[in-house]
Amino acid sequence: MTRSVFRSLVGWATSRPWLKRFATKTSFGNAVASRFVPGDTLDSAMAAARALRAGGISAVLGLLGENVTSPGRAVAAADAYIRSMERIREEVDLDCSVSVKLTDLGLGFSRALCMSELERVVGSAERSGTLVTIDMEGSTYVDRTLNVFRDVSSRHERIGICLQASLRRTPGDLETLPAECVVRLVKGAYLESPEIAFPKRRDVDAAFVRCFVSLLARGHTVHVATHDPRLLEGACRTAERHGVPWSRVELQMLYGVRRDLQTRFTRQGYPVRVYVPYGDDWYPYLARRLAERPANMWFFLSNLVRMR
Ligand code: FDA
Repeated sequence: MTRSVFRSLVGWATSRPWLKRFATKTSFGNAVASRFVPGDTLDSAMAAARALRAGGISAVLGLLGENVTSPGRAVAAADAYIRSMERIREEVDLDCSVSVKLTDLGLGFSRALCMSELERVVGSAERSGTLVTIDMEGSTYVDRTLNVFRDVSSRHERIGICLQASLRRTPGDLETLPAECVVRLVKGAYLESPEIAFPKRRDVDAAFVRCFVSLLARGHTVHVATHDPRLLEGACRTAERHGVPWSRVELQMLYGVRRDLQTRFTRQGYPVRVYVPYGDDWYPYLARRLAERPANMWFFLSNLVRMR
């Protein structure tokens, strides 16, 4: 089965409301989620960040939530992001940044609300000396996300953006970014049509390399967010060959994914940061992680068998 067919099948299955109910209400779903999400609360995320720190790894905290449909939910999400930055300020030994999804701040229904909530979040980040990176969501949000990012970054420094190498439009988007801003480069986690995103893995990988080189040449700070060892090694070699300081390049991976690589690159002396998601709205995040890799279905099924 090709990767895209597998992703479509998982995408279809995980959009069934009954499956979401089953996953979120049973210990089975929670057991599967715990591999990728350390817990529901900010405390659990901070505990995970401390454990990572003990191994020399930094963290980026991500409150789970997306596509809110009411102003109250957007304001509550911004409040939660701000609370996470207050905690980061208290825990002086930790090197933590924060990642936000604009649809969690209301982008889906009000640009104005999303802007004002993001301003509150970034204002708090500046007081804590924390970086806020905006996640990139499905392709229908890319224009709006970049638009809000450009606007807010004209007034604030501690803000970065994620770009998806799999999207055909990304080389063009890259040219519209504010000078030298922080960019997290990822392959892209959302199921997109072939007109919008490269369907073949080797084309995505080649685009990832091209985007990385181009971002470095343009003076951006680049967060290389992948678990692909060849891309990670290539990024390290390219940065070294061009004498790019490590303050401008960082390797990023997801909590619970390729811990071996997280440790290996840290031991080799490279800066590594792990995305630590938390919150009770973990189902869409878990669905994306399962869809990324057919082998994760064995993990899913073995948990189901163990539960019986
Ligand atoms: P690829 O899928 O080719 O995997 C390479 C190897 O990594 C696999 O062979 C396997 O060993 C391992 N692996 C990858 N995924 C795994 C999984 N789920 N479970 C177990 N092993 C796995 N995307 C997006 O669209 N918007 C965003 O804002 C972000 N943000 C983000 C932040 C950070 C810090 C990271 C690391 C990733 C993201 N992503 C993202 C997700 C990204 O787009 C991508 O879907 C995943 O990183 C998986 O792709 P890889 O680059 O790892 O490559």
